[in-house]
Amino acid sequence: MQEKDLGADLRSVLITKQEIDARLAELAAKIDAGYEGKDLLLVGVLKGAVMVMADLARALATPVTMDWMAISSYGAGTQSSGVVRILKDLDTDIKDKHVLIVEDIIDSGLTLSWLLSNLGSREPASLEIMTLLRKPEAAKVDIDVKWVGFDIPSEFVVGYGLDYGEKYRNLPFIGTLAPHVYGG
Ligand code: XMP
Ligand code: MG
Repeated sequence: MQEKDLGADLRSVLITKQEIDARLAELAAKIDAGYEGKDLLLVGVLKGAVMVMADLARALATPVTMDWMAISSYGAGTQSSGVVRILKDLDTDIKDKHVLIVEDIIDSGLTLSWLLSNLGSREPASLEIMTLLRKPEAAKVDIDVKWVGFDIPSEFVVGYGLDYGEKYRNLPFIGTLAPHVYGG
């Protein structure tokens, strides 16, 4: 994407579609190696993980099934509320299954700690995490994230599934918002 295509609401492209594709191909190869001979259930966290789920799933050679959970930890703005609510639970029983949580972004890690204990209590055979993006705050919580796409600065990002007030999810790249959009 060229600078001229960004429009007034975006400040910059942080990660291009090409960079995302290349990184997902690398991670897919590692994930394939990690689950050799096993059936894998990908659990996507709606709505942000839709794009990474679709692209990662297609990059994997491992046979997978997919299920989705919708949880809410953020309001319409850029601050974490710290409160996690289930908006949509999984359709399937994950007991004795190899489960890989596919996340768009880990910021404070609050959402993920909650998700790990929630899914962990359902007795899966294994439970791992793949996230496309991770912010520096996440380092403060003790969560073992097995696969990380990109470590990014502590800035609000949009695109490739990530939204600001439900907008920008369909951008093919990860971008940062212009300060005027969020009142900066
Ligand atoms: P925590 O802080 O619980 O947050 O790790 C994870 C969830 O917060 C959302 N989030 C963002 N969404 N741009 C977004 O569009 C961001 O920069 C951002 N940071 C956190 C996201 O829903 C994620 O699952
Ligand atoms: Mg969001």
